[in-house]
Amino acid sequence: MKLLNLKTFFLANAMLLGAVSVQAQAEDEAQLIKQGEYLSRLGDCMACHSVAGKPAYSGGLAIDSNLGRIYSTNITPDKEHGIGNYSEQQFNDAVRKGVLPDGTGLYPAMPYPDYAKISDADMHALYTYFMKGVQPSAEQPPETSLSFPFSQRWGMRFWNWAFTSDKAFKPIGGASAEINRGAYIVESLGHCGSCHTPRGLGMNEKALDSGDGDFLAGGNLNGWEVPSLRGLPRWNEKEIVDYLQTGRNDKAAVGGEMTSVVEHSSSHMTDADLQAIAAYLKFLGGNPPLQAGDANAAQATEAKLTAAKNLSEGERLYLDNCGACHFVTGKGAPGIFPELDQATLVNAGDPTGLIHTILVGAQQPSTEKAPSTLAMPGFGNRLNDDEVAKLATFVRQGWSNKAPAVTKEQVAEVRKSLHHE
Ligand code: HEC
Ligand code: HEC
Ligand code: HEC
Repeated sequence: MKLLNLKTFFLANAMLLGAVSVQAQAEDEAQLIKQGEYLSRLGDCMACHSVAGKPAYSGGLAIDSNLGRIYSTNITPDKEHGIGNYSEQQFNDAVRKGVLPDGTGLYPAMPYPDYAKISDADMHALYTYFMKGVQPSAEQPPETSLSFPFSQRWGMRFWNWAFTSDKAFKPIGGASAEINRGAYIVESLGHCGSCHTPRGLGMNEKALDSGDGDFLAGGNLNGWEVPSLRGLPRWNEKEIVDYLQTGRNDKAAVGGEMTSVVEHSSSHMTDADLQAIAAYLKFLGGNPPLQAGDANAAQATEAKLTAAKNLSEGERLYLDNCGACHFVTGKGAPGIFPELDQATLVNAGDPTGLIHTILVGAQQPSTEKAPSTLAMPGFGNRLNDDEVAKLATFVRQGWSNKAPAVTKEQVAEVRKSLHHE
């Protein structure tokens, strides 16, 4: 009798323990899936692997690269059309090394040169999320078929050998834990360098980590300048956080390709991660003091526009078309209409982004913290190339701005490119 009792006791206990560990495992897995989902936001996997109207992560986005048109693939756990048969090792090799299970290489339209620095723990959570937290989809995106020699995926192995690094993320010695968290996000999942770092001869990012002065020193996407992020001397940390979280701050509004980054990725980041990125970007520039513009020059333009006498054609076009929102001060209204005085986009060496904005306007993304969206209308139908050139030249040289003039040929060039969008 005693024996039996003891047996039941053990049995009951063992069953209880078993139940507890199954439950703990389920909780662990639920936790990993949640963590992986957040990491996929940090990595912005959605922006490239989804198209409007199709299931999340089912691929099919056309990316025009200088190799030709590349389609993103289905990365849902569907076994036939997606990556459902990938082992964790194969997933890691694809995401961090750009190597497919058959040994051939991915095209770097997938930012694996940056993802190479994702930690093992984060890769494990991502894998768990993509295998167990994402709905499988049988969507078959169009095949990428590049012309020779780029059609030869084996060639990508050579490119990888020449231009990528399998070095793990290395914390910056002596910097705070917050700055290092920012460095980790920016260098790895955030893949900020894929747009913000200048490209070298092989279209490779010239630098992949904080130790190199080229890292985040500014890039160019089809003429649209991507600003340097090293120190952001005109912005304080709060302005960087606001911009990444809501697509606007009291000085600027997001535009171009950055709009999608804010919409799909940075607006979903936690306050702590955004703050870490801001602290890191300020740190990168050696924490420069905030720069103010030339107050005298700014006042001279404001006074001339206010008096509205003997205006140049550019000044007149500004008052007629832009002044209602951006004002005679060129300062707009904080958080609503962005500043034109000293704005990065206005003062870019290449005026493509500014011309593009004047021709087609701009629309802010709707984000959780700032759901209302403000739009600027396009002026492409109202103003001819010569007028846009004169207006843009005024904007680039009014107030404290000192950027080179814009020609009507430059405007014609951007207008022509719009037909292909
Ligand atoms: C900037 C766009 C972009 C982003 C961001 C991006 N991908 Fe990709 N990804 C691509 C493209 C394009 C391909 C296909 C490349 C090719 O055909 O060589 C690809 C391929 C892949 C593959 C191989 C798929 C297959 O069909 O075998 C995996 C796995 C993958 N991506 C996972 C991810 C994950 C996980 C993330 C987020 C951490 C991510 N990608 C973010 C563009 C992107
Ligand atoms: C797909 C390309 C792309 C990626 C990826 C990208 N950016 Fe940008 N970013 C841009 C472009 C283009 C602009 C210029 C926007 C404009 O002209 O309005 C920009 C502007 C910015 C600005 C404003 C700078 C200024 O002086 O006005 C900040 C801050 C910024 N990005 C931070 C980041 C961070 C942090 C990341 C990574 C988490 C990132 N970006 C990833 C393309 C990108
Ligand atoms: C109806 C109000 C309105 C008018 C008129 C208007 N804008 Fe804007 N403008 C905006 C808003 C709102 C944004 C921010 C849009 C966004 O977030 O993408 C903006 C953005 C901009 C930007 C990008 C600023 C940045 O921070 O990168 C420039 C440059 C610009 N406008 C120039 C002009 C010029 C030049 C004109 C006249 C041809 C003009 N705008 C007319 C409302 C206006």
